[in-house]
Amino acid sequence: MAKRSVRDLDVHGRRVLLRADFNVPLDPRGRIADDYRIRATMPTIRLLTDRGAKVVLISHMGRPKDREPELSLAPVRARLEDLLGRQLRLLGDCVGPEVEEAVARLDAGAVILLENLRYHPGEPADTRDQEPGFADQLAALGEAYVNDAFGACHRSDTSIVELPRRLPAAMGLLLEREVTVLDQVLHNPSQPLVVVLGGSKVEDKIGVVLHLLPIADRVLIGGGAAFTFLRARGYEIGRSRLDPKHLEACRQALERHPDKILLPTDVLIATGPDMPQGSRVVRVDAIPPDWMGVDIGPETARAFSDVLRQAQTVVWNGPMGIFEQSAFAQGTKAIAHVLRGQGVTGATVIVGGGDTVAAVQQLGYADGIDHLSTGGGAMLEYLEGKELPGLAALPDQ
Ligand code: 3PG
Repeated sequence: MAKRSVRDLDVHGRRVLLRADFNVPLDPRGRIADDYRIRATMPTIRLLTDRGAKVVLISHMGRPKDREPELSLAPVRARLEDLLGRQLRLLGDCVGPEVEEAVARLDAGAVILLENLRYHPGEPADTRDQEPGFADQLAALGEAYVNDAFGACHRSDTSIVELPRRLPAAMGLLLEREVTVLDQVLHNPSQPLVVVLGGSKVEDKIGVVLHLLPIADRVLIGGGAAFTFLRARGYEIGRSRLDPKHLEACRQALERHPDKILLPTDVLIATGPDMPQGSRVVRVDAIPPDWMGVDIGPETARAFSDVLRQAQTVVWNGPMGIFEQSAFAQGTKAIAHVLRGQGVTGATVIVGGGDTVAAVQQLGYADGIDHLSTGGGAMLEYLEGKELPGLAALPDQ
């Protein structure tokens, strides 16, 4: 059953709490390294202001232990001002008398930003009990609630699961699009469906592999995640990343679907994750004991590319190597390059995960991709077939 959309919510003249995921990556100087999540929320903000809502933006940033100033939403405020083309006030808190007063004085069509929700222990799911009144205080600020924070829908934070229980609620345009695109993959993909998984941890990906194997035509595995699979196939992997806890699950996946899973046949190896000097390509049966895999090799990149060129639907989450090191970024670049071409010629291409989306954008390839997901963990959990708490909490249409 589809969830109620913001389009069907009566918002004129009402205070609308818009839960966004403005948890954007910051560089060491505290500047926004990638503003994609902010830009992706703009259509919902515009729809609400056009319809005369009083928009109260709420979001978390990072995982503060206290009120660390470096996790303020101040950089987000500055970026939103540019995008909105008008001044935007950031309040010093997200609840309390000053916030109540400022919100009560908003005019129709106005926008205001509240400070990091996680500055309060009442927000994160695991510390909520320390501040039991938080959900009611937050809910009292609004007359309606819109969730556009797909990236945080796998969390049971107060603003995600408690607000929709207390206010008339709906999904925002971004959340609606994320869910529509991923539902299409899960229930009605144009075939062949090819799934590309990378990134460092196999524990984040194994659930998706197991859930998508029966649906997908091929599952290509690169990045750190590939080495536990290679070990499960019997290869010595040196000091490459190994997840012993999930070795058995990898073995079972390989046994059940030996023809669907494609693993690297060659890899780039180095003596450390930040040691590009002396790195070299070897076959996967020749990884020396003191070396580690840091990227897929050129033969693997070609084999993956050949499969991707046949695909009608592609889902990609996770870089093929340690992308931050330019010497270890060739595999990721090769995949991004092919996918851009595929997208341009009509296949549906969906890319998710902060690092992967950033890679595609840095390479200037975003124009060939149909959907860049704002969800990392949320996208993976959805593709695992799990019910996201943030979606479950929203009312049906
Ligand atoms: C994310 O970046 O995945 C979301 O914003 C959720 O953040 P969290 O992992 O700190 O809950």
